[in-house]
Amino acid sequence: MASVKHVAIIMDGNGRYAQKLGKERTFGHYEGVKNVRDIAIHASEKGVECLTVYAFSTENWKRPAKEVSYLMSLPRIFFSSYLKQLMEKNIRVTMIGRMDNIPEEARTYFERAIAETAGNTGMILNFAMNYGSRDEIVEAARRYAEDFRDGKAGELDEALFSKYLMTAELPDVDLLIRTSGEQRISNFLLYQIAYAELVFSPLNWPEFDDAEFDRCLDEFYKRNRRFGGLNEE
Ligand code: IPE
Ligand code: IPE
Ligand code: MG
Repeated sequence: MASVKHVAIIMDGNGRYAQKLGKERTFGHYEGVKNVRDIAIHASEKGVECLTVYAFSTENWKRPAKEVSYLMSLPRIFFSSYLKQLMEKNIRVTMIGRMDNIPEEARTYFERAIAETAGNTGMILNFAMNYGSRDEIVEAARRYAEDFRDGKAGELDEALFSKYLMTAELPDVDLLIRTSGEQRISNFLLYQIAYAELVFSPLNWPEFDDAEFDRCLDEFYKRNRRFGGLNEE
């Protein structure tokens, strides 16, 4: 049976969830944050080695300032409520994305969570925060070019290029889930999902529960991954 090491989730539909209930979009984000904790714990219990969640894209700055500012307060809400539980579950927090232009408070909460959980040996909960895949690839190319120019790097191949990506320490994505019925990638892990199985859930992120996660895993296990080769059975 194919194994699922790395699951990546595009957590979409918070706004629509709130609208459906006649509430502000921020309510949907708040509910979504709680769900990150639930799904992370569930995924770790299912034996997933790494769970990457798309929290904020480099394009999300286009949203109204009020919403952006609420989204930037979520790291505080998340880590001040749940860091202890993540520790108890031996979960290690990491992040990918550009830390330089997010507000200091959000950055501090991430840095603290990363440092405090650094010794944990269970699942990696990797936040894509202010992350854009094109930005990541261009930055990787720029850094490689500098290293090559300075004699610090040899000829480029796929393995070496991967080391310049923000996911250098992580395995390729096996399963990519997007919630809320949208079927697009929106600048998420373009390089890393080359052979990922894509599963789209109709549920909005705050409604996406353990049972739906299991359904996505079942769907993954039914797929026949060939990686360009032929069936082995
Ligand atoms: C996902 O929910 C959260 C972020 C992108 C930050 P949305 O806010 O995109 O919700 P919809 O798509 O408007 O319903
Ligand atoms: C993708 O969702 C980004 C995150 C989940 C953080 P969006 O809602 O921003 O994507 P589009 O605009 O619908 O493609
Ligand atoms: Mg959306």
